[in-house]
Amino acid sequence: MLGAMKSPATADMPRVPLPDGTTVPALGQGTWTMGERKARASAEAASLTLGVELGMTLVDTAEMYGDGGAEEVLAEVIAGRRDRMFVVSKVYPHNAGRKSAISACERSLSRLRTDRLDLYLLHWRGRIPLGETVEAFERLRSDGKILRWGVSNFDTADMRELVALPEGRRCATNQVLYHLGERGIEWELMPWMRQHGIPLMAYSPLGQGALLKKRNLASIAKGLGTTPAALALRWVLRGPGVIAIPESANLEHVRANRDALSLVLDRPTLDALDAAFPPPAGPTRLAVI
Ligand SMILES: NC(=O)c1ccc[n+]([C@@H]2O[C@H](COP(=O)([O-])OP(=O)(O)OC[C@H]3O[C@@H](n4cnc5c(N)ncnc54)[C@H](OP(=O)(O)O)[C@@H]3O)[C@@H](O)[C@H]2O)c1
Repeated sequence: MLGAMKSPATADMPRVPLPDGTTVPALGQGTWTMGERKARASAEAASLTLGVELGMTLVDTAEMYGDGGAEEVLAEVIAGRRDRMFVVSKVYPHNAGRKSAISACERSLSRLRTDRLDLYLLHWRGRIPLGETVEAFERLRSDGKILRWGVSNFDTADMRELVALPEGRRCATNQVLYHLGERGIEWELMPWMRQHGIPLMAYSPLGQGALLKKRNLASIAKGLGTTPAALALRWVLRGPGVIAIPESANLEHVRANRDALSLVLDRPTLDALDAAFPPPAGPTRLAVI
């Protein structure tokens, strides 16, 4: 029989250490579809603010989201509580050059109304040589405009190339697609990152909402007396060195997501999830959205 218990001890937010020793909450929040419409901005800011109050103080955004609009929504959330927050933004690959990355970062800082990013990521690999981007990131870091940097949508070969560059080992994370329905990274990328002490930031941990409609997930969650969302998130966070950044503009959903951390997954539950959503049986290319 499947079992899960609510444990007050695990209700506290677990933290994940970054390579520089700073720790961040394992459960953060995303902002991909935010800042696109003015009429929704205050509801979006309210959901993010609730998440922050519940301990989900790491928030992921990007210059791409809402064409800068998501960063502006986030500015409302961080105002007055900047020091308690861990702000992540991303640069477009075409803006990731020696000079262009500096200007892109300055534009992000101005939209966010802050003087520094806690983490700045290359959104995906483009044509600009990686070494040039790393140089720009290091300059931003020495100028105090970013505290650390990382990458996103990098497969194992990209990560190998990155860490071989001068200063490449400063990479603080690789943000990639990971959820129950998309487990390909478990074959090579995830073990490689663990071995190199680089935490993984799981994006779309709820499969963009579509995963939550799967009947087998819903029935396992029902048996545990929890929601499919809480179960899916708890599963993503079952191992060390993983951060998940679900997005929600709905207060009830934010609470449900936070509840994931009070779930304890036992072996029969993990086996049932493996049977419903099998791990990879061989190497696969990194899935991206
Ligand atoms: N680096 C990259 O290339 C990349 C790519 C994609 C995403 N990301 C980042 O990852 C974040 C999360 O990914 P995502 O937004 O693609 O997908 P997601 O977090 O997997 O799913 C978001 C969807 O799930 C719904 N949802 C959230 N909590 C729920 C709950 N408890 N119950 C039911 N529905 C729930 C949301 O709707 P409601 O608003 O109604 O709750 C929304 O439609 C993004 O916001 C972004 O910051 C990065």
